[in-house]
Amino acid sequence: MNQRTGRLRGKVALVTGGAMGIGLATARRFAAEGAFTYIADVEKPAPGELSVEGAEEITYVDLDVTDEVAWAEAVDDILERDERLDILVNNAGVIDYAGIADVTAEAWARVVAVDQTGVFLGTRAALKPMLAQRSGSIINLSSAWGVVGSEGVAAYQAAKGGVRGLTRNTAVTYARDGVRANTVIPGWIRTPLAERQAEEKNAEVIGLTPLGFGGDPDDIAWGCVYLASDESRYVTGSELVIDGGLLAR
Ligand SMILES: NC(=O)c1ccc[n+]([C@@H]2O[C@H](COP(=O)([O-])OP(=O)(O)OC[C@H]3O[C@@H](n4cnc5c(N)ncnc54)[C@H](O)[C@@H]3O)[C@@H](O)[C@H]2O)c1
Repeated sequence: MNQRTGRLRGKVALVTGGAMGIGLATARRFAAEGAFTYIADVEKPAPGELSVEGAEEITYVDLDVTDEVAWAEAVDDILERDERLDILVNNAGVIDYAGIADVTAEAWARVVAVDQTGVFLGTRAALKPMLAQRSGSIINLSSAWGVVGSEGVAAYQAAKGGVRGLTRNTAVTYARDGVRANTVIPGWIRTPLAERQAEEKNAEVIGLTPLGFGGDPDDIAWGCVYLASDESRYVTGSELVIDGGLLAR
């Protein structure tokens, strides 16, 4: 983890859902690449996770991505400290496994609030400094289940499909303002979310994955480093699929 190349040197980054899983791996890679990094989550990361050898300490922000007021405060606090915001990763997510005939209105509303409305609220809050700076990179986490149908997971599929449209809308609307927006589409990744799923479900998805194994959070983190960095300056409105070939079937 202490391999540093400075691909994000001097940039200020905020990663939602950064206490564990994909968000934590992404935040740690960002810090290692020289970014001043914040993670926003309703959970605190495990002790020691905010420190990356040879890098600035990652800052934890207590934020529920569904809370409009908290978003404004969080971004204002970052601006007060670091005067800019270059990168936002809308990664926080929750899942519900019910099919449409069984999903409760409460479960539906919760998933859409976090996975879709949270992306809207985060994007809107980050655009304030990004439009003023005339630069920024927004990275939104969708899912392979935001692309193709899967049994159950009705609310999750609806929300993750919506994220892809919102990303394209952000990209096209703000391209001339120097703000880029891209979607990352993970396949099966070994995280606390995946580990909470039924064994058979995990085995089934990994079995369908052409490379034959599940991914690690770092597989997604590296894609986010690319999209966050100036290496991807000509990339906006795109979708980076990191799924071991799952969607190529
Ligand atoms: N793991 C996979 O196989 C996989 C596959 C496709 C897409 N994804 C997506 O990647 C993202 C990260 O997934 P993960 O597997 O790391 O999940 P995870 O459950 O391991 O971590 C998600 C994090 O989001 C946080 N979070 C949840 N609700 C929040 C809220 N309202 N406000 C702030 N933080 C909140 C949680 O506390 C947690 O730290 C999600 O958007 C998920 O849908 C994951």
